[in-house]
Amino acid sequence: MTAAAWKYLLNLCVVTVFCCCFFRSDATTSGANPDIPAIADYFTTKGRYEEVNPHLRDDILSVNGSALQPPFEQCRLAHLTAIIRHGTRYPSSKNVKKMQRLYELVQTGARGQESWLRELQGQWTMWYTEDMDGRLAPKGVLDHKRLAVRLSKLFPSVLSEEKLRGGYVQFMTSSKHRCVNSTLAFQAGLAELWAITDKEFDHAVNDALMRFFDQCTRFVEEVEDNPEALSEMEKFRQGPEMRRVLQKVADRLRVPYNNITYDMAEAAFYLCAYELAIKTVNSPWCQLLDEVDAQVIEYANDLKQFWKRGYGHDINSKASCTLFHDVFSRLETAAREIRDGQEVTEAVTVQIGHAETLLPLITLLGFFKDSTTLTATNFAEQTHRTFRTSHIMPYIANLVLVLYDCGSDGLRLQPLLNENLVTFPGLSGQTASMPRFEEVKEHYRELLQGCDFEAECKLFRN
Ligand SMILES: *[C@@H]1O[C@H](CO)[C@@H](O)[C@H](O)[C@H]1NC(C)=O
Ligand SMILES: *[C@@H]1O[C@H](CO)[C@@H](O)[C@H](O)[C@H]1NC(C)=O
Ligand SMILES: *[C@@H]1O[C@H](CO)[C@@H](O)[C@H](O)[C@H]1NC(C)=O
Repeated sequence: MTAAAWKYLLNLCVVTVFCCCFFRSDATTSGANPDIPAIADYFTTKGRYEEVNPHLRDDILSVNGSALQPPFEQCRLAHLTAIIRHGTRYPSSKNVKKMQRLYELVQTGARGQESWLRELQGQWTMWYTEDMDGRLAPKGVLDHKRLAVRLSKLFPSVLSEEKLRGGYVQFMTSSKHRCVNSTLAFQAGLAELWAITDKEFDHAVNDALMRFFDQCTRFVEEVEDNPEALSEMEKFRQGPEMRRVLQKVADRLRVPYNNITYDMAEAAFYLCAYELAIKTVNSPWCQLLDEVDAQVIEYANDLKQFWKRGYGHDINSKASCTLFHDVFSRLETAAREIRDGQEVTEAVTVQIGHAETLLPLITLLGFFKDSTTLTATNFAEQTHRTFRTSHIMPYIANLVLVLYDCGSDGLRLQPLLNENLVTFPGLSGQTASMPRFEEVKEHYRELLQGCDFEAECKLFRN
C-alpha cells in the first residue's frame, strides 16, 4: 500500500472514531435533547420521573395499557394499592446553604471565558432561599395531578369517577406538608379530570404508616444517629474517585483545589438537578460536571440510601413492617370480599409518603438486591448494579399492587414500579408478572407471620 493510501485510511479511522464518539454521546436518552442535561439520568432521589419514563417527555398523559393486560381473559380488576412518593420539591435549607456557598465561590473566585461561566456570573441569580425548606414545588403539584390521570387511564374500572364519588377510594398521607399537598394535588387531578366541583375528598394523616422510620427506636439509634452506619459512604467521599471529581470541578472554575469540598461538588449536582426538576431548565450549573463525575456522585448517594434505607442494615427494611402488614391485610380484605361475592369496599388506596417510606418497603419485598454489597471500594464493579435510586426513586416514585379476580385462575397480584411491570423477586414462571395472590403470600410467609414492628424496633432484643 502506498503512503497516500495509508494516510487516507488513517484519516478515515480518525473521522470514524470521531463520529462514533460524537453520535454515541448524542444518542443517550437525555443527550439527544439539548433541553435536558447530559447528566440527568444520575440524579438519584432528586431526579425527574420523566427520565425514568422518557415517553412522558413527549406526552405526559400517555400510558400503555396493553403492556399491563392480564394473561387471562376473564380477569377483572378488583383492588389497587398505590404507595407514592411526594412530587418535586424545593431543596432543604441545609442544601440551599451549600448551594449558596458554591454560588459565592463562583461569583468571587472563578476565572474563565466560557459562556456558561459568564452566564453564571452575569445573568443567573441565586433564587433559592432557606425558607423554601423542602416545600412542594408547583411542578410537584403537576406531577401528582398527571399521575392521578394516568393511573385512572390504566385502571379505569377501579380508579373511576363512580368509585371516587361513592367513597371506594381512600387517601392516606404522611403529615409532612409536601405529602399532604401531594395528596390534595392527586385528588385535584381526578376532580379536574371528571369536572367534580360539588364534592371534597378526605384524607387520613398517618405517620405510624407513612413515617415509620421516625418511630422505630432501633433504626434511629443504630442507623439514623450513628455515623458508623454510613461509614462506606464517608469513605467513598474521601476516596480517589471523588478526589478526581473535585479536582475536575476546581479546574473548570480555575480555583485552587482546596476550594472545592465534597459539599461544593454536590451543590453543583443539586443545582443542575433542581433547575431541571423545578423549572425544566438545562442550567449552566450542569457544565460543572461531566457524566463520569455525575456517576461518582450518584454512587455516593446510592451508598447513603443503601446503608440508610436499603439492604445495608436489616433494621432499615424491618422498620417498614407495619406498612407491609397494612398493605397485605388490605389485599386480604379485598380477597375475602371477592370470595364472598361482595363488592370490594376499598377499591383503591392511595398512600403518599417519602423516599424513606418506599425504599425500605421495596427492600423488605426483596426488589433490586444485587449479589454484592455496595461499598466504598467497589464503584467500578457496581457499574451495572440494580440498586440505582436514579431509576427506582425519582419524585412521585410509586409502587402499585393490583389485585385481579381471574375466576377459575384465582386471584392474581400484579406489581408495578413507576408504572412499569416488575416481578416479585424469587417468583418465576410464565405468569411471573402476575402470580396467584396465594403464591405471593406463600413467598412472603415468614414476613407475614413475623415482621413485628414492636419487636424489631426495640433497642435491646432478646
Ligand atoms: C405497549 O406495550 C406493548 C406490550 O408490551 C408493546 O408491544 C407496544 O409496543 C407498546 N406500545 C407503545 C406505544 O409503547
Ligand atoms: C401547600 O399548599 C398551600 C396552598 O396551596 C400552600 O399555601 C403551602 O405553602 C403548601 N405547602 C407546602 C409545604 O408545599
Ligand atoms: C480558596 O483558596 C484560597 C487559597 O488557598 C484561599 O485563600 C481562599 O480563602 C479559598 N476560598 C474559599 C471560598 O474556600
